[in-house]
Amino acid sequence: MLYQWSKRGWKVWAASTLPYSCLGQKESCRSLSLTGHVGFDSSPDQLVNKSINQGFCFNILCIGETGIGKSTLIDTLFNTHFDDRVANHFQPNVRLKAQTYDLHESNVRLKLTIVNTVGFGDQINKEDSYQPIVDYIDAQFEAYLQEELKIKRSLYSYHDTRIHVCLYFISPTGHSLKTLDLLTMKNLDSKVNIIPVIGKADTISKTELQKFKIKLMSELVSNGVQIYQFPTEDETISKINATMNGHLPFAVVGSLEEVKVGNKMVKARQYPWGIVQVENEHHCDFVKLREMLICTNMEDLREQTHTRHYELYRRCKLEEMGFRDTGPENKPVRLALLKYYADRKKSVSHSQATVESVQETYEAKRHEFFGELQRREEEMRQTFVQRVKEKEAILKEAERELQAKFEHLKRLHQEERMKLEEKRKLLEDEMIVFSKRKAATELLQAQAFASTPTVSLKKDKDRKNSSFM
Ligand code: GTP
Ligand code: MG
Repeated sequence: MLYQWSKRGWKVWAASTLPYSCLGQKESCRSLSLTGHVGFDSSPDQLVNKSINQGFCFNILCIGETGIGKSTLIDTLFNTHFDDRVANHFQPNVRLKAQTYDLHESNVRLKLTIVNTVGFGDQINKEDSYQPIVDYIDAQFEAYLQEELKIKRSLYSYHDTRIHVCLYFISPTGHSLKTLDLLTMKNLDSKVNIIPVIGKADTISKTELQKFKIKLMSELVSNGVQIYQFPTEDETISKINATMNGHLPFAVVGSLEEVKVGNKMVKARQYPWGIVQVENEHHCDFVKLREMLICTNMEDLREQTHTRHYELYRRCKLEEMGFRDTGPENKPVRLALLKYYADRKKSVSHSQATVESVQETYEAKRHEFFGELQRREEEMRQTFVQRVKEKEAILKEAERELQAKFEHLKRLHQEERMKLEEKRKLLEDEMIVFSKRKAATELLQAQAFASTPTVSLKKDKDRKNSSFM
C-alpha cells in the first residue's frame, strides 16, 4: 500500500492502481510553509550528539619507500608519538602493518587506524609491489560486505577498517614519478582516496619544488591516475578546497622536535644553516595537509569511501555472485515483478515488490546453491562407493591369495605328518625286533651262566674285587 496526502485527506493506493509517477518516476513534491514552530530544526543537533556519543573512526594508509618519513609525518599530524618501529631495507616482500589507537580531543573520540607499508620499494623486482596493498584494501571491503550480508548485522558496533585515505609519499627527487609510484597509484585509484604528498620536502629547493609539483601533476593526468579532489560543491568550503586542489601534491615536512623561534616554541627541523618550521606555510604544506585531511574533509573522505569505492567493490562482488538488478528481457526486476503480479490480477504494494525482487533473487541463488550442493554430494557419494568397491575387490583378492597359501601349507603339513607317521611305525617295528633280540640274548646268557662250574666263578669274583681295591 502507498499513502498519499491529497486535499481530501490521505489517499491509499493499492499497487495495481498506483499512478505511473509512483512506479519509477520522480514524485512531485510541494513546498509548504509552517504556521508555527514544530521542532524538527533540532535534527542537526541530534545528529551531532549521536555522532559525538558514537565516536568516529578514521583509517589512514601510508604508502612510501622505507625511511621516506611516513611515521614522523603521522606523529606530527596527530601531535603524538605512535611508537612505530623503523623497518629495514631487507624485506623480501611488501607487507602492511595496521595499528589502531583511541584518541580524545575535547569530548570527541576518534578511533584511528594507521596502516603502513613495510619494505615498499626495497625489492629488486618491484613488479607486484602494489598487489599486497590492493589485497589489503579489498580484504577490508570484503569484511564489511560480509557483515552487511549477515542476517543479524551489527554495523553500529562494527569496527570499520575500510581505508578512508591513502597518503602516497613521493620521494623529493625533483625529477619525475617513478614507475613503481605510477603503477601503484593506477592500481589503487578506484579503491581508495589518494592524496599524494612529497615527503622530506625540506631537501628540495623552492623553485625546484614548484617545477616538480607541476611535473608530477601532469604525469598523473597523462597516465590517467585519479587522485582525490577536495569537494567544491558545498559553498562554505568550496573556495578553500578549490585553492587547495591547486596546491596538490602537498610538500610536507615532519618533526616533533620543539625549537625556540623568537619567544615561541615551534615544531621544526634544525640544520646548520637554519630552521625549517613544520607549521610555517612559507616553509612547507604541512598545515594545508592537516587542515584538509582532518579539519575540513575527513567526513567527505569517509563518505567517498562508502559511496564510491565500497559501492564499486560491492557491485562487482554481487554481480560476480550472480545478483542482477534487471530480470529477463532486460527489465528491472522490480517492474518485471509488478507486471507479473498485475497479470495475475493480484494487488501487491510497491515495497512488497521490491522486497520480493531481492527475495526472489535470493531464493533463486539459494536454489542454485542447494542444487550445486546436492550435485557435489552425489558426485562425492559416487566416488566414495567406487572407492569402496575397488578396496573391496583388492581385499577379496588378498583373501583369496591367503586362502590358497593356507591350503598349500596345510597340504605340506599333512604330507609331513604322514611321513613322520611312517617313520614312527618303522621305528616301532625296529624297537619290537630289538626287544625280541634282546630277550633272546638275555635268555642265552642265562643258560650259559647256569652251565658254568661254581669254583671258577668264585675265583673270577675274587679277581674282580681285588682289581677294584
Ligand atoms: P619506515 O617505517 O622504516 O619505512 O620509515 P618511515 O617512512 O616511517 O620514516 P621515519 O618517519 O621513520 O623517518 C626516517 C628518517 O627520516 C628519520 O631519521 C626522520 O627523522 C627523517 N625524517 C622524517 N621526516 C623528515 C622530513 O620531513 N625531512 C627530513 N629531512 N627528514 C625527515
Ligand atoms: Mg615508519
